Amino acid sequence: MLINKPNDIRPSEITDKTVYKQRRRFLQGAGALLGVTATGGLMALGTPPRDLQGNKIFKDLPRGIASIDGPLTDYEDATTYNNFYELGVGKSGPAENAALFKTDPWSVTVAGECEKPGTLTLEDFLKPHALEERIYRLRCVETWSMVIPWVGFSLGDALKRFQPTRDAKFVIFETLFDPDRLVMQNFDLLDWPYQEGLRIDEAMHPLTTLAIGMYGEVLPKQNGAPLRLVVPWKYGFKSIKSIVSIKFSKARPKTTWSDLQPEEYGFYANVNPDVSHPRWSQKRERPLGEWFKKDTLLFNGYAEQVAGLYKGMDLKKHY
Ligand code: MTE
Repeated sequence: MLINKPNDIRPSEITDKTVYKQRRRFLQGAGALLGVTATGGLMALGTPPRDLQGNKIFKDLPRGIASIDGPLTDYEDATTYNNFYELGVGKSGPAENAALFKTDPWSVTVAGECEKPGTLTLEDFLKPHALEERIYRLRCVETWSMVIPWVGFSLGDALKRFQPTRDAKFVIFETLFDPDRLVMQNFDLLDWPYQEGLRIDEAMHPLTTLAIGMYGEVLPKQNGAPLRLVVPWKYGFKSIKSIVSIKFSKARPKTTWSDLQPEEYGFYANVNPDVSHPRWSQKRERPLGEWFKKDTLLFNGYAEQVAGLYKGMDLKKHY
């Protein structure tokens, strides 16, 4: 994702004590980070975690709705070319800083317009759900794309347990806010925590996935461990990582990128080759690891499943 003016520091911040403290915290984090890379953290990246017998952790899972046949993006590419601003701005930063991100223990709070709000440990949140392998295309708004075998289940199945009321028109998601664990949150880069939202019918659509793994393994931290959203027909920025909060809301929420640059990143963010980004065309994409570009498909190839959600809407206006 590209921010127009990444280096802007407002004059009011220059002598601000909290900023000074944040910088010190960042420097401490950066020191730890050097230690990590110097001891070979980076070299281990291409090796997926296995159980003690060397087997994949999630085996023989049933295939989820609308899974495609691949070919899959290389594991190495999918785990070293990332967007996760909390862990780094460049593509390799998230993997390099991943070791600083402690994801255990983890809990998820569900709140807002529902009958049964609560805070659950990750284990209790996941317990009732049977896992599937869901092989989906992921198209980034920056025009690169991947095909990832996710391990997860439909978000809607989880949401139903909390009994949303009739007033629940939208669902809001938030990433963890903890600058000690997510090192770039020490900087004023984005309006932390990262926040995303879906209309309730989009959230309840069976294709909308909560993932805890990929390639038969637990999610690497740089890919959004321990729990992330996957909305395969929308640009990748809707697929928020490392979720700690889910809230049902009456009103459409503010979302990180569309709030920051509304003319560039819309709330809907449906993949659409006919709606250009103001600074580039969205007609073609480059699959990671491949030389040649290919045509981008409406709704990222999932029109059959999801076009009905937007019946009667002008997709050029509601981008
Ligand atoms: N979630 C959080 N919390 N922070 C981020 O910076 N980046 C988004 C999305 N989820 C992002 C995020 C963007 S722009 C994309 S394209 C995808 O994550 C990338 O997911 P990947 O790194 O697993 O490919």
